[in-house]
Amino acid sequence: MSGRWRFGLALMLAAGCSAAQDGKAIYEANCAACHQPDGAGAVGLAPPLAGTLGKRVASPLGRQYVSAVLIAGLAGKIESKGVVYNGMMPSWRQFSDDELAAVINHVLTTFNGAELAAGHVPFAAADFAAARAGKTTAKELRGWRSESE
Ligand code: HEC
Repeated sequence: MSGRWRFGLALMLAAGCSAAQDGKAIYEANCAACHQPDGAGAVGLAPPLAGTLGKRVASPLGRQYVSAVLIAGLAGKIESKGVVYNGMMPSWRQFSDDELAAVINHVLTTFNGAELAAGHVPFAAADFAAARAGKTTAKELRGWRSESE
């Protein structure tokens, strides 16, 4: 093994590790103010992400909804756990596809672990690349959301 190759491998491993940890850091710095550190949400501010996404991401439409919400943001009325929210979810398209996958995987494993399907496939950069390529309206997003309930 040449030294250069070994150095490249070490870099790749280091990058892989930090990507896994970034999800938590990105959540705490960008999402927790509204969705709360424990993902419970706050009435009048933002819906819970804890215990509400695990089942949704078991369907292809639910996965499409979750990745598109992060890319496009969402405004308008939605109901979650019997509470109506009418807030503003900003777009997070400034983050890379890898960062978005890391933050949503953090939300899913940390706050929705109990309801993830047995064959749950973690989100990947490709899910967000697809969402980024499409143009979704809030109306479409709400449609996908109610169909994946
Ligand atoms: C400024 C407050 C705010 C911040 C910051 C924020 N969100 Fe949101 N988020 C909302 C609101 C409000 C909604 C519901 C939108 C609506 O009422 O139409 C929402 C909805 C969502 C949904 C859909 C939930 C559902 O039940 O359909 C997901 C997923 C989500 N946010 C993830 C995130 C992630 C991940 C981050 C950090 C990268 C984040 N949010 C940061 C306010 C915020």
